[in-house]
Amino acid sequence: MLPDVARAWEHLQRVAQELFARYGYEPVYTPLFEHTDVFTRGIGEATDIVSKEMYTFEDKGGRSITLRPEGTASVVRAALEHNLTANGAQAKLYYAGPMFRYERPQKGRMRQFWQIGIECLGAPEPTADAEVITVLWRYFETLGIPAANMRLLLNSMGDEACRPAYRDTIASFIRDHADGLCEECNRRADTNPLRAFDCKNPGCREIMAEAPLLRDELCEECAHHYAAVKEYLDALGIPYIEDSTLVRGLDYYTRTVFEVQVDAGLGSQNAIGGGGRYDRLMQEYGGPATPGLGFALGFERTLLALEAAGVDIPAVPRAEVFVARVDDSATAEVFALSQRLRDAGVAAELDHQARSLKSQFKQADRLGARLVIVAGPDELASGEVTLRDMSTKEEKRLALGSADADVIDALGQEGTD
Ligand code: HAM
Repeated sequence: MLPDVARAWEHLQRVAQELFARYGYEPVYTPLFEHTDVFTRGIGEATDIVSKEMYTFEDKGGRSITLRPEGTASVVRAALEHNLTANGAQAKLYYAGPMFRYERPQKGRMRQFWQIGIECLGAPEPTADAEVITVLWRYFETLGIPAANMRLLLNSMGDEACRPAYRDTIASFIRDHADGLCEECNRRADTNPLRAFDCKNPGCREIMAEAPLLRDELCEECAHHYAAVKEYLDALGIPYIEDSTLVRGLDYYTRTVFEVQVDAGLGSQNAIGGGGRYDRLMQEYGGPATPGLGFALGFERTLLALEAAGVDIPAVPRAEVFVARVDDSATAEVFALSQRLRDAGVAAELDHQARSLKSQFKQADRLGARLVIVAGPDELASGEVTLRDMSTKEEKRLALGSADADVIDALGQEGTD
């Protein structure tokens, strides 16, 4: 990632940090790799991620380790290991970093990609679902993706009371339609029947559109929970679309699942973020029953969506002030003055290549400097430097000894914090 892209990355992270902090989320960093078991147990053996896409190696100690394909499993593992949710405590955590999946690369899908995500642990109430979904939606809005370009899909996956029966129903449905469905979907009848809703094959899609919907078979608690999530979203004016075929690619979900998709700029990899509730995940790791939910969004896809919407990433000037020298007689003064400015909190740049004054002005322009200080034999003979305003072209002389304070005034900055 070269500076142009890395700057955009930092902007995405800055906006996330500011927004997530308003909702009480704290940063967490988990390792890039974990014992393979953390992911197989958490994400599920039958998922594409675990069965096909993990970078799994044996280390020198003969342990099976895996580069993290996502963040949720690690965050829940860490919360359990460090008792963050002991005695009913709630933990609100966010993370950002690279994830690894051995998928077929295409636009918006790479083998190392960046995610930023939040996890809200210990919160069973539907207000938490509505809050997490709102954070995701607001994040994309804050970045500048127009709401009209996005689609928020919402579904409930049920829980251990109602989903097993529904899984069986779908497995039978697949067997009843075996001839019309692809080989993979047929295999899914035994391993992960609900994933058949995600098949991209047009023939399979047509058949699966006729399959019974979980929405109609939710148990009473799940139906209540789902209805309340929708009410809270309605109250906030978050525009969701119910999609009973949204099943997502990870096995840990219970109840609420959601995804934000865009049409412009992404082709088939159109999900820029998604998540859901996983009330049984901590138990998978041997911990106490602890509800949780969260989302993750993809940086690369978000940038593509921003590009397609014509949103510019705000540029940060690389130098506010350029300290130029007419010739080598001013080098020591220019070097010292630049440092005084930097110590005072000003982004100041100087030439390290003994370039001509003209080239130094060009460089100042390229860096976006508002002011240029020029030091040469003339100026220094009277203990001064010249200050030039790059937009008005006005020039004035400043005393060398107090030039840093004058420049700070000219920049309209106050303190030196
Ligand atoms: P996920 O849907 O697998 O969910 O990934 C979240 C986002 O990561 C996707 O919407 C997409 O933007 C991005 N993404 C996924 N795979 C790739 C790839 N190969 N290349 C580029 N971008 C990609 C999760 O990972 C869950 N951990 C989300 C979650 C958090 N659920 C609850 N808490």
